[in-house]
Amino acid sequence: MDIRAVKEYLGQDWLSVQERIASALESDISLLNSTNASILSQSGKQLRPMLALMFARACTGKATDAGIRYAAAAELLHNATLLHDDVADGSELRRGKPTVMSLMGPSVSVLVGDYWLVKAMELILQDSETDTTAIRIFSKTLSDLAEGEMLQLQKAQSGDTDEKDYLRIIYNKTASLFEAACVSAAISAGVSEDVVKAARDYAVALGLAFQIKDDILDYSGTESVGKPLGVDILEQKITLPLLGALNNVSGQKQAEVRGMVRDIVGRPELRDDVVSFVKENGGLEYAKARLEEYVNEAVHALDILPDSREKEYLMELARYTAIRDK
Ligand code: IPE
Ligand code: IPE
Ligand code: MG
Ligand code: MG
Repeated sequence: MDIRAVKEYLGQDWLSVQERIASALESDISLLNSTNASILSQSGKQLRPMLALMFARACTGKATDAGIRYAAAAELLHNATLLHDDVADGSELRRGKPTVMSLMGPSVSVLVGDYWLVKAMELILQDSETDTTAIRIFSKTLSDLAEGEMLQLQKAQSGDTDEKDYLRIIYNKTASLFEAACVSAAISAGVSEDVVKAARDYAVALGLAFQIKDDILDYSGTESVGKPLGVDILEQKITLPLLGALNNVSGQKQAEVRGMVRDIVGRPELRDDVVSFVKENGGLEYAKARLEEYVNEAVHALDILPDSREKEYLMELARYTAIRDK
């Protein structure tokens, strides 16, 4: 799918989001401004504001000022979490370029992340009727994110991640922000409760699919992904491809592989064995099947919306999560 064409279709609404992002970040500290400019010059897919605007327009045909602000805030928050995540994961590459963390150090990455996060909250809380509702939605997402990252660390230590834990982690660290983006968009459009529910169902399913794909790409992606690959298992993150492969083997083999994951920090050479185990025991196929289920769930959640080009784009964007290569 042509992401650029989607942005062009969104036209002035899309440009307004970009303007809001840029103006929200302005500071008189030159180091901050230059760092912000370099992050903005390598923007990623910008999926969250795209989905938010598309959802608002699918509801009422146009985005309101509040809808534009929430969409911009979702992208600011997303980038803030990446600036923090790259420190947490010690990651050198993002969007095909060296991370802020690797160029300027972890302190800069954390501080700039904090700045983007607060600017997002300021952008949400202005003076429209729906702003307090929106701030509550995004605050919940921020605590979901922190809890998700902490649970991920806890599970990396205990080594006993099961599928329920995995789903909670990916809901918290990824789907919750997709949910906030689409639900706040629906609220900005002043829609009924059942349409708000559709926004939630769509975004949560899409967000889960999105992170499952991210975890598949970590096992099977190519350079186009633009970030380091094969790193999850080195960080002892047990993701769906590995859980799927574990489902297909005996209890004894499961214990053996979990033991390898426990030892992997001291013996990184074990990675190749774990990756082969996942590929040889149907782990990627299992994760792909689950991914497809969530994509279908997302598409289905849109049934309640009237037919429109926006609704078609929302369906295409859900399907895109499953086939993307970056
Ligand atoms: C990366 O998100 C973090 C995950 C939730 C997997 P994106 O893949 O949307 O990142 P960018 O903004 O396009 O680089
Ligand atoms: C993604 O976590 C979710 C965030 C909150 C940033 P990952 O660690 O899987 O994301 P990438 O792979 O670094 O983009
Ligand atoms: Mg990471
Ligand atoms: Mg991470």
